[in-house]
Amino acid sequence: MNEKSGEAPSKIDIQAMNDVVNNAAALPAAGPLTGDKPLVRATDLARTFDVSAPWLNRVLEGKPRQLLRAVDGVSFDIARGTTLALVGESGCGKSTVARLLVGLYAPTRGEFEFDGQDAHAVFKTPQGHHLRRRIQMIFQDPYASLNPRWTVEHIVGEPLLEHGIVSASADLKVKVGELLKSVGLAPLDMLKYPHQFSGGQRQRISIARALATEPEFLVCDEPTSALDVSVQAQVLNIMKDLQKQRGLTYLFISHNLAVVRHVSDTVGVMYLGRLVELAPKKTLFEHPRHPYTRMLLDAIPDMRQTGRSRTPVQGEVPNPLNPPPGCAFNPRCPHVNDRCRTERPALSEWQGIRIACHAVQEGRI
Ligand SMILES: Nc1ncnc2c1ncn2[C@@H]1O[C@H](COP(=O)(O)OP(=O)(O)O)[C@@H](O)[C@H]1O
Ligand SMILES: [Mg+2]
Repeated sequence: MNEKSGEAPSKIDIQAMNDVVNNAAALPAAGPLTGDKPLVRATDLARTFDVSAPWLNRVLEGKPRQLLRAVDGVSFDIARGTTLALVGESGCGKSTVARLLVGLYAPTRGEFEFDGQDAHAVFKTPQGHHLRRRIQMIFQDPYASLNPRWTVEHIVGEPLLEHGIVSASADLKVKVGELLKSVGLAPLDMLKYPHQFSGGQRQRISIARALATEPEFLVCDEPTSALDVSVQAQVLNIMKDLQKQRGLTYLFISHNLAVVRHVSDTVGVMYLGRLVELAPKKTLFEHPRHPYTRMLLDAIPDMRQTGRSRTPVQGEVPNPLNPPPGCAFNPRCPHVNDRCRTERPALSEWQGIRIACHAVQEGRI
């Protein structure tokens, strides 16, 4: 078994899949009809962590309570069948957004609507089980996220049993075999253990497992960041093909804009727990507005041959326990002025995109 077995299908296959997807558009959508409503809507979503020292230390050492705003009011929509990518350096709150959307964390503030319902309210009820089936997550590290003592059949089959999708052992084998085939692995691979696979193959096993419950929404947290570049492309192609075949909706998280360019429809750039720019992919790559977005793009070799001088990535993300006043990006920004140091820019509509930057809105850039 080698990486090649899962190569992206030929062009003809992709055309056939397109036809299937296009024809499917004429059929009624699965689930309740929601008109033009997006499948996923986050409104002012926030999550704060209490990272205070233990109570006794606080009393003895006179330390205050410390709250870390990992995600501080993030809003976005994702239309069914499309991909929103979230990018930003490490520590910007991307994984926390992912965990909020799959119900691993409850929000401190704000709302997550899935297919028109308040997801966090539903997670708490008996119907929450059904909702969890519709939303699945793929994690960054395929070494850590697969149980090394389980066979692939057990790993991929567990959600099928847990959600009562199959019961008989013969059915389970058939279904696990189909899932493995859908990610370019062989049905017989179900007899093996995770250590018998390469990194890319393991990530395919994670994808097969995530697909077991036939979810509509996949939250992918840096799914290819732990893989070699050549293998990354294979996994990304599989994800794109699966999206076309199954009409999947993705939240795709990455710190790498080059990867995001491959897979997204819309891109949200996060900085210190907030969105600073949200734009269609083409607009964002051709006309990046926010100085932070420009800085991230400048870091990619050969991405922008504009003749404009490049600004290498400078400085680092500030300590989230002690964020700078005004715009959180101001200590690193080449266009900073007094207003930026005192007044926090809100994310607002501007020329068809959403942006949080005084310099852009005042026409200084
Ligand atoms: N469970 C947690 N408890 C305390 N702090 C956390 C927790 N999870 C994340 N953080 C903090 O929240 C911030 C955002 O983290 P994270 O969402 O993992 O960012 P990213 O995925 O963009 O690297 C970081 O400063 C991180 O240290
Ligand atoms: Mg992360």
